[in-house]
Amino acid sequence: MIGVNTLQEFVVARQADFAGATGDLSRLLTDIGTAAKMVNRHVNSAGLSGILGVHKANGNTSRNVQGESQQKLDVYADDTFTRVLKSCLKVGGIVSEEQPGIIHVDHSARGQGRGYGKYMVCIDPLDGSSNVDVNISVGTIFGIYRRKSPLTEPAVVEDFLQPASELVAAGYVLYGSSTMLVYSTGGGVNGFTFDPSIGEFFLSHPAMQFPKEERVYSVNDARLSDTDPAISEFLADCRQRGMTARYTGALVADFHRNLIQGGIYLYPGSYSKPEGKLRMLYEAQPLAFLAEQAGGATWCHHHNLLDVVPGSLHQRTPLFTGHADSIARLKNMMHASARPIPEPEGMWVLR
Ligand code: AHG
Ligand code: MN
Ligand code: MN
Repeated sequence: MIGVNTLQEFVVARQADFAGATGDLSRLLTDIGTAAKMVNRHVNSAGLSGILGVHKANGNTSRNVQGESQQKLDVYADDTFTRVLKSCLKVGGIVSEEQPGIIHVDHSARGQGRGYGKYMVCIDPLDGSSNVDVNISVGTIFGIYRRKSPLTEPAVVEDFLQPASELVAAGYVLYGSSTMLVYSTGGGVNGFTFDPSIGEFFLSHPAMQFPKEERVYSVNDARLSDTDPAISEFLADCRQRGMTARYTGALVADFHRNLIQGGIYLYPGSYSKPEGKLRMLYEAQPLAFLAEQAGGATWCHHHNLLDVVPGSLHQRTPLFTGHADSIARLKNMMHASARPIPEPEGMWVLR
């Protein structure tokens, strides 16, 4: 049953929970909601409006900084989110999966005399974009940090290289059978469902928590032969316990299902690639923050992911996130492993 609270009303009402809050974060969160509506419209009509498939520049498939080919919708979602975020006076810098460096946002250049905003936004504009062409859910993931350097200067890399435990807010949008925006500012996790006939997100999932039961595990089992055998042992134990397998190939969709049904998502590192695949700043950290806020936990082979300070903007990390009991069991098995994945060297320091 959809409640009467719109995203905007809810965000503003929650602002009163923080002494001295200025409304800046509220404005930023509602702007993210606006960009999500724009991307939602495109995702839902992609087949009709000719925006399926890979993006080409000068006849060649365009690639992001990580060498991955970009879908047309990756580029559209990146343009949309960065355009909306740049117009938000509270944003001082953006790191996007689709762009190599910090996108600096200088408001004084627009004659607004405010210099650079105080919030640093990390974003995966379109997560699981290989799902678009086959009509399966995709998402957006975002994390918001408070900058450390002076507002009069452009943001520096260190403003983004903070542990997830320092996130001011994080969330995701899931463009699925219905579109949802789920976020947390540290006081629990709340989910909003988009009503396309009204054009608003309404509070539909208040105070989201992992359920008591552990039902699902999500892993790409094609990647298990080159990783810690403790993970295969853990999965056998999950099956023994009656858990079932679900994996969509979009982290947002898998995380969301596991949050609602009770489950764990695993993307390990391997002996040949100990850092794994997923990106720290705009995939792992925001979801680790949400998992913790929902009573879950997140691990990365050797550490609680919330305590890790990333070493670079597009750093990768192994990721195990979800139900706290599942993570605890996995952790114990990995501790006892005869062939653990080595800690990736020089990638991060602990808080
Ligand atoms: P993105 O589309 O932003 O590059 O992310 C894809 C990620 C993640 O969403 C998903 O869980 C994972 O890649 C799937 O990887 P595999 O194909 O290796 O299973
Ligand atoms: Mn992604
Ligand atoms: Mn992406």
